[in-house]
Amino acid sequence: MHKQSSTALNQLSQLDRQGHLKHLITLEGLDKATITALLDRARSHLRPKAARPSHSQALAGITVGNIFTEPSTRTRASFELAARRLGADVLNLEIMLSSRMKGETVLDTIRTLEAMAMNVFVIRDAEPGVGQFVASHVEDHVSVLSAGEAHLSHPTQGLLDALTIRQHKQAFEPLKVAIVGDIRHSRVARSGYQILKALEVGELRLVAPPGLMCDANEMPDAERFDRLEDGLSGVDVIMMLRIQKERMALTDIPKESDYFAQWGLTHQRLKAAKSDCIVMHPGPMNREIEIASDVADGPQSVIREQVTNGVAVRMAVLEAVTQSRPVLELAQLP
Ligand code: NCD
Repeated sequence: MHKQSSTALNQLSQLDRQGHLKHLITLEGLDKATITALLDRARSHLRPKAARPSHSQALAGITVGNIFTEPSTRTRASFELAARRLGADVLNLEIMLSSRMKGETVLDTIRTLEAMAMNVFVIRDAEPGVGQFVASHVEDHVSVLSAGEAHLSHPTQGLLDALTIRQHKQAFEPLKVAIVGDIRHSRVARSGYQILKALEVGELRLVAPPGLMCDANEMPDAERFDRLEDGLSGVDVIMMLRIQKERMALTDIPKESDYFAQWGLTHQRLKAAKSDCIVMHPGPMNREIEIASDVADGPQSVIREQVTNGVAVRMAVLEAVTQSRPVLELAQLP
């Protein structure tokens, strides 16, 4: 059961009976209004660089558990900072949920953590289905957030990418957006596609060498390009992707110099896009493989803003899923 992909989760099961967001495992099925409300809430957490970051006690008394079984620096740090800046308690747990699902001992783990009043599970796993499995077993007042599910879904990355685009381009409808590189193995590409579709972006392009393109039945509403120069022509936004070597057979890993020669985003190639085109990358970057350093650090790059926006987006999501938890006065206690 836990093998089912995140696409099987519909919007309803991520919302509670009042229609509030309860879990965030996938962006698929989330409507424009829900997404826009999350982006607006995230924006309210942005501050000028020199100012102190947004801080509150909105999550005081809430415990957030980070369960990351795939390497991650920025996403884990970003979830942790987001929770702490809202006054939550944070626990980083070194446990492997996916390997335990088989023996169902994962349920014992969940019950144990629930008994210590863990209210939000943040889960990253290389195996599909872990988030849904946990979400379908937790108590009613407990939320599950995906921090990256296999190659399938990375919803908070999709949100932070949309927030970054909105800051620079305002409306989505007139935009041409190119998602470039290892699309086949990328959860960032899939969540990006889902959110940009929901936000009614004008034109979505998938630009990849044939071996790294997703199957024909996936992301059907995007136009496909197998030459970088063609795919970049006239676009407003370029979303570069990391080559996900860890998801490839050794023999399929492209030679770095060959890849850069054909698929690396260089200053020269960037000229094919609109002159005010922004360049994004989820990180960690493979410099001089998928992106030239002078582009990554150049004036059109918004890569660091994406990182900043990541904290704001995770604060917004944490607030959204915990807003219906009552804070009881002593007199109301059983
Ligand atoms: C992405 C991830 O892990 O899915 N990175 C991230 O969340 N910062 C993208 C990637 O690793 O390629």
